[in-house]
Amino acid sequence: MIVLGIETSCDETAVAVVEDAFSLRANLIARQDHLHERFGGVVPEVAARAHVEAINPLLERALEEAGIDLGDVDAVAVTVGPGLVGALLVGVAAAKSLALARGVDLIGVNHLEGHIWANFLDHGPPSPPYVALVVSGGHTMLVHMRDERTYEVLGQTVDDAAGEAFDKVARLLGLGFPGGPAIDRLAAEGDPHAIDFPRAMASSGDLDFSMSGLKTAVLRYLRQERAAGREPHLPDVAASFQEAIVDVQVRKTLAAASAVGAPTVLLGGGVVANSRLRERMVQEGARAGLQVLVPPIALCTDNAAMIACVGAARWLRGERSPLDIGVDPNLRLDA
Ligand code: KG4
Ligand code: ZN
Repeated sequence: MIVLGIETSCDETAVAVVEDAFSLRANLIARQDHLHERFGGVVPEVAARAHVEAINPLLERALEEAGIDLGDVDAVAVTVGPGLVGALLVGVAAAKSLALARGVDLIGVNHLEGHIWANFLDHGPPSPPYVALVVSGGHTMLVHMRDERTYEVLGQTVDDAAGEAFDKVARLLGLGFPGGPAIDRLAAEGDPHAIDFPRAMASSGDLDFSMSGLKTAVLRYLRQERAAGREPHLPDVAASFQEAIVDVQVRKTLAAASAVGAPTVLLGGGVVANSRLRERMVQEGARAGLQVLVPPIALCTDNAAMIACVGAARWLRGERSPLDIGVDPNLRLDA
């Protein structure tokens, strides 16, 4: 059984083909970083227009790479939210056209669910329950999954998302966009314990997060150093900032797993590409007796393989979406 996945929720146009839900046949991404870089962030109108230009050639290439044609496709799975409304509409319009023209089933997928399911590609899901940490450019949340279909949000950020914090601090440090990978690289040359940045809400007793104080602390540190006539050592700043974010995420994720008694932790979202987060979560999870699943880096950032995977599992359960399905920029995981 073959599912075509389409993802256009932000600034990556992505198309993938999966077979039997978990086996990848093609996974293509057209990036737009170069279009948004000079604005220092994703410009919604620019993203939507770039999706329009990229989507059809990408669909053709994905089918070619998978060695199939449209007649072989059982269902088209597409991200319907959360994300940028104009960007989402491009993918959904493409999916609906294919579904209507070729008479294949349509399945609307939640982008955040996709990030979690990226862990199941290749080998399928381990036995539930799980705790999932979803950290991306737009979201930071801890989720309890009693089984593969129920999502209970245990905590989330009260201000910025983790990826947003990486991107904003990267701008303060004069690094490019997106900032996460740039900070990750620079941090490798720095000392994570050089500067003691605040661990916001680390001992708040709940499972919520806050990032904006950390960003302000970095700004204040840079200003103080420069006012004192010292040029801050940027690798140390990057490494110490990264450590502060990772520290809180690791602590809260382990606390969540212990609170709900879940033996397995799933990591998902673009920030899971971060080398320090991957390393510490795996190490400290193992020490706590947990199984920690981490997708390959290419499946952490936005992609359509994860969307096709969720869509295929839904299709196998007999679920279908109507052809007039809409997009929801604020779609909730526990909706
Ligand atoms: O999941 P994603 O690709 O898109 C959204 O759904 O938002 O996440 C993008 C975010 C960006 O903020 C980017 O800076 C961050 O993921 N990111 C990273 C790394 N790679 C991407 N953050 C920290 N370290 C990285 N290596
Ligand atoms: Zn994402």
